[in-house]
Amino acid sequence: MKQKKWLDEYGRQSRSEDDQRSKKTAYFGYRKIPEDEKTQWVLRHFNTVAKRYDLMNTLLSFGIHHLWKRNAIRIMNLNPGDRVLDVCGGTGDLAILAAGPVGRNGRVIIYDINRAMIEAGVHKVAHLPLNERIWFVQGDAEHVSFPDGYFDAAMVGFGIRNVTHMDQGFKEMGRVLKPGGKMMCLEFSKPTSPLFRWLYDIYSFHVMPVIGEVIAGSSKAYLHLTESIRTFAMPNELTAVLKQVGFSTVTEHKLTNGIAMIHLALKG
Ligand SMILES: C[S@@+](CC[C@H](N)C(=O)[O-])C[C@H]1O[C@@H](n2cnc3c(N)ncnc32)[C@H](O)[C@@H]1O
Repeated sequence: MKQKKWLDEYGRQSRSEDDQRSKKTAYFGYRKIPEDEKTQWVLRHFNTVAKRYDLMNTLLSFGIHHLWKRNAIRIMNLNPGDRVLDVCGGTGDLAILAAGPVGRNGRVIIYDINRAMIEAGVHKVAHLPLNERIWFVQGDAEHVSFPDGYFDAAMVGFGIRNVTHMDQGFKEMGRVLKPGGKMMCLEFSKPTSPLFRWLYDIYSFHVMPVIGEVIAGSSKAYLHLTESIRTFAMPNELTAVLKQVGFSTVTEHKLTNGIAMIHLALKG
């Protein structure tokens, strides 16, 4: 059987936000679903993986996701006293790393829609020395419950793929940022080397779901992860979306042959 893999430009365009909005549909991996059901699909997905989320990330990435996240926070160049929003913050890896540079007067708010992911994060953060700098708020990235211009920086790590209308999620991040505030997006992408991509595809389609079944009790959840990465915007397309919603000076940083990308953008 021929395996469906990376969408080409035409495939990605046909799934563009505007196109999907007009048809009131959305995608969950390769599957087309009604737009208003996507949040529920995503909630169920993270309910399934929440308890083993951190362990699975570390196993599946051989620990490399920690380096990517460290890199992302370093690139943000946070300052003491900064207020930082961690959209789709989940179990708080990025927030924990940001809690150091923001200092004792700074705050990092983890903003996530999923209760089970937040609970896993609360438990993890509670044992850390900088825990009083990290707060949790449950909510949808498309409607951030903070006033305009409240944050110095905003970030989203491996989350924007899950938001039904990615542009609306970015718009909200822009709205709550102060003028000149920084926005960082860390997200999976497509490896640039064909050989590396071939190996990565074999690993993603045939090994990751098996590990997912054994450790987290769900091969489907990890097949979904694999699919959602292969249908996501390319780096230049993501840059175009960021500019379209009003960010300026967007820079792209490639990680591990393009498996992941950091986009850093400024408000206004
Ligand atoms: C892959 S996890 C990333 C967690 C964390 N940022 C990290 O890097 O490990 C994606 C997170 O996005 C959250 N999420 C998905 N859709 C969301 C939405 N519409 N609003 C807020 N959070 C959402 C999920 O609940 C999940 O915790």
